[in-house]
Amino acid sequence: MPLNVTPVTPVFGARVSGVDINKPLNDAAFTVIRAAFDEHLVLIFSDQPMTDEQQVAFSERFGPLEGTRGVNPGSGTPFARQSNLDIKSGAVIPADDRRMFYQKANYFWHADSTFKAIPSLCSILTARVVPPAGGATEFASTRAAYDSLNEKEKAAIEDLVIEHDFAYSRGLAGFTFTAEEQALMAPVRHRLVRTNEANGLKSVMIGVHAKCVVGWPEDESRALLDDLLARATRPENSYRHQWRQGDVIVWDNQAAVHRATEYDATQHQRLMQRTTISSGAVANN
Ligand code: OGA
Ligand code: MN
Repeated sequence: MPLNVTPVTPVFGARVSGVDINKPLNDAAFTVIRAAFDEHLVLIFSDQPMTDEQQVAFSERFGPLEGTRGVNPGSGTPFARQSNLDIKSGAVIPADDRRMFYQKANYFWHADSTFKAIPSLCSILTARVVPPAGGATEFASTRAAYDSLNEKEKAAIEDLVIEHDFAYSRGLAGFTFTAEEQALMAPVRHRLVRTNEANGLKSVMIGVHAKCVVGWPEDESRALLDDLLARATRPENSYRHQWRQGDVIVWDNQAAVHRATEYDATQHQRLMQRTTISSGAVANN
């Protein structure tokens, strides 16, 4: 079966079939996948249940992997886990546990690792255990948000710099860090407008970690960031993915945002495992 790329919306997102991403990929196959990623921003593969080793091997084709740090149970490994299952025992984590509360921040629209000194190129999430209902992930295109601006508006944001702050965004979700945790996460600054090197298409890197526009009054800064997010998340620029076990999704962290949606974590099990690929030649953490 030939490698096939089929858009899932008229704006962004595509399903990729006809390729086994659990086997070593030849350069020709990966070139097609990489080009599809640059064009569609979100790539969906189905029926590709991955081991940890296979996930790392596929992820490394995109670039160097970030290490996970902090409160996530995958800390100290290349994996971030989104799960209600204890990493050691596999037992369901009680709803009032700090680890469950921490994951609630994923319900905000965000892009992964924008709060790191070197932002991420993309993330790859594998569906290991999927609840029978709920737990979908939504995606939205910030390339579409950029495209929706008129030329004057594009010029006005071209050189803006955004401060991204993980302690700020987790604070919005009501989560507080210990002083020791907080010491590891100084705010960082990144250009708002991002240009895809392969095709020159522009986007905005936004989401919940984006605290403010450097040098702007707080109300104007918030209004701009909210407006850009509202443009990105218009229904026509969004895609909701209902997971099946064995699904693998690659998403752009500079031209798309995503968010988790609820499921009954007291009744059902969910285990999603993410790798995060750095945009730098060498990953930072
Ligand atoms: C992530 C994430 C959403 C989800 O892994 O980065 O935001 O639905 N996951 O688990
Ligand atoms: Mn995420």
